[in-house]
Amino acid sequence: MSENFFIGSSLDKKSKYENLLSQLPALIANEPDLIANLANLSAIFHQTFKWWWVGFYLVKDDQLVLGPFQGPVACTRISFGKGVCGTAWKEKRSFLVPDVNNFSGHIACSSISVSEIVFPLFNSSSEVVAVLDIDSEKFGFLDETDMQYLEQIAEIISKSLFY
Ligand code: SME
Repeated sequence: MSENFFIGSSLDKKSKYENLLSQLPALIANEPDLIANLANLSAIFHQTFKWWWVGFYLVKDDQLVLGPFQGPVACTRISFGKGVCGTAWKEKRSFLVPDVNNFSGHIACSSISVSEIVFPLFNSSSEVVAVLDIDSEKFGFLDETDMQYLEQIAEIISKSLFY
């Protein structure tokens, strides 16, 4: 299984995303369990890009609760409108944060994480049901190319798992 989804580390970023886009639907097509799918998505993201932290927070009542992820221990609960994740939930839009020091209210689960990108995931009623959060230990590591491809990927995840 893992060999089928291996994405070569020598490829450039765009090529990795193109490969990922072609493989992603098959990775989650035959498994109905949400957590299993989010766990494998975290794994394929980590395997492909070696991001410092990548994972999902799930909307439960009035909070985001930590879901499947790859990386160090993280905050377990984030309130509506708090941090980058809670703001993405509230404003229903993605955020690219090249330097977390410039995002007022950023939640530092770890001081090592200095840049991040967050995407809300939607159900068929356009409600936010989860967020995808990616963190880097390098300033400006995540950029407009990531933004562009991850918008597409977030839409695929929403439509495949939450509609
Ligand atoms: N930095 C995020 C919190 C989640 S962790 O980084 C994994 C935020 O400000 O919402």
